[in-house]
Amino acid sequence: MSQRDAFTSTFGVLVATLGSAVGLGNIWKFPYLTGTNGGAGFLLVYLLATLLVGLPVMIAEIMLGRTARANAVSTLAQLAPRQPLWQSIGYMGLLAAVLILAFYTEVAGWVFAYIVKALRGQLQFTDPHSAAAAFGALVGSPWQALLWQWLVLAFTGGIIMLGVSKGIEAVTKRLMPLLFLLLFLLCVRSLTLPGAMAGLAFLLQPDFGKITTSVVLTALGLAFFKLSIGMGTMITYGSYFRDEQNIPATALRVMLADLSVSLLAGVAIFPAVFAFGFAPSAGPSLVFMTIPAVFYSMPGGSLFMTLFFVLTAIAATGAILSILEVPVAMLTERLGWHRRKATLVTLFTIALLGVPAALSHGVTAGWKLFGLNPFELFDFISSNILLPLGGILIALFAGWVYGLPKLRDALSNHGQLQNTRIIGLLYLLTRYVAPLLVAVILLKGLNVF
Ligand code: PHE
Repeated sequence: MSQRDAFTSTFGVLVATLGSAVGLGNIWKFPYLTGTNGGAGFLLVYLLATLLVGLPVMIAEIMLGRTARANAVSTLAQLAPRQPLWQSIGYMGLLAAVLILAFYTEVAGWVFAYIVKALRGQLQFTDPHSAAAAFGALVGSPWQALLWQWLVLAFTGGIIMLGVSKGIEAVTKRLMPLLFLLLFLLCVRSLTLPGAMAGLAFLLQPDFGKITTSVVLTALGLAFFKLSIGMGTMITYGSYFRDEQNIPATALRVMLADLSVSLLAGVAIFPAVFAFGFAPSAGPSLVFMTIPAVFYSMPGGSLFMTLFFVLTAIAATGAILSILEVPVAMLTERLGWHRRKATLVTLFTIALLGVPAALSHGVTAGWKLFGLNPFELFDFISSNILLPLGGILIALFAGWVYGLPKLRDALSNHGQLQNTRIIGLLYLLTRYVAPLLVAVILLKGLNVF
């Protein structure tokens, strides 16, 4: 059997993992959810969820993947051969992957379209009306919406076919550093706008009255979505980790860098929202309306606007690659399919499911289930139900089935790292805190009690 592909350097592991975490979640979802859920209070709950649940589950996932060196289903099959039920983590992850990609690639399609619009000087406005009209014209047109989505699928599918080291690692290594540079520039610009401080206050001064149970569930869902956990992505990436990689330290770095990107995106967007009179609660269209306004009146504005959307596209690409890798690794390893066939079948499934999602802002806008159109429904089921549920199961598996002695061995790299205290803390978090907390929020958020 040929050797299994893997990441080739410590830096490669870090950027690929960061490439998975950083994505539309930071630049698109984080700002708009913060806007619709009341600002700083939401941010605070999100931070707590990330520390108490997100980080421990992320470390557990990577550890399980690296121990088994296999896709998500096979990892659980290998680590608990007599308890096949645990494999449901992998199958639920497969479902989440497809659902997320059905709407995620749609939003990525908007980003790609905005690159072209910015280049052609079609985003020259600062008033909310023109901004809404430009966005509406794109998302309301069935063919445009679908074609851009398919372009994103073809592009990312092409990289996946190149493999783990030559595709995923090579691409993220080149692109991620650029992203940080541009985001930083953008913040400087946004903060120097007149009226910027109202935006900062919105982001940083919590109003505790606005924290309801549904806000807490959304924040928890975002914490899972952001760190790419609860669906086997980190199990899969963990299976490509190097033996000598310090897993807790790598996860911590990724979490902090990812959080910085979200905060920078917030700082880039909210001051502009208030300076130009946009509504912070605009929803999914928020970035697409405010960013052109931020750059419009600035020298070289079209260039910066273009660069911003290019970098958002980069972020989206790294994340999409990691979601695609979940089904692709499963299909190649479990069914013995060639990587090309596995990728094509995955892309085709997503394209099919993507149709109702892509048309949700026009043709299928009225197809509602529980008051949500297909786009919103796919997001809700995956982020707010499947990922938290997957997270509970992974934490329980790590804390109760895998257990402390093995946890110690795996996370200290067989005794080479001196991190007993951190492992002890992690054990408590995965065994008790994370499963309980997530279960309570999930049940309450879904109005079960
Ligand atoms: N973390 C990615 C983002 O923020 C999305 C993602 C979710 C990636 C789940 C992988 C798995 O955009």
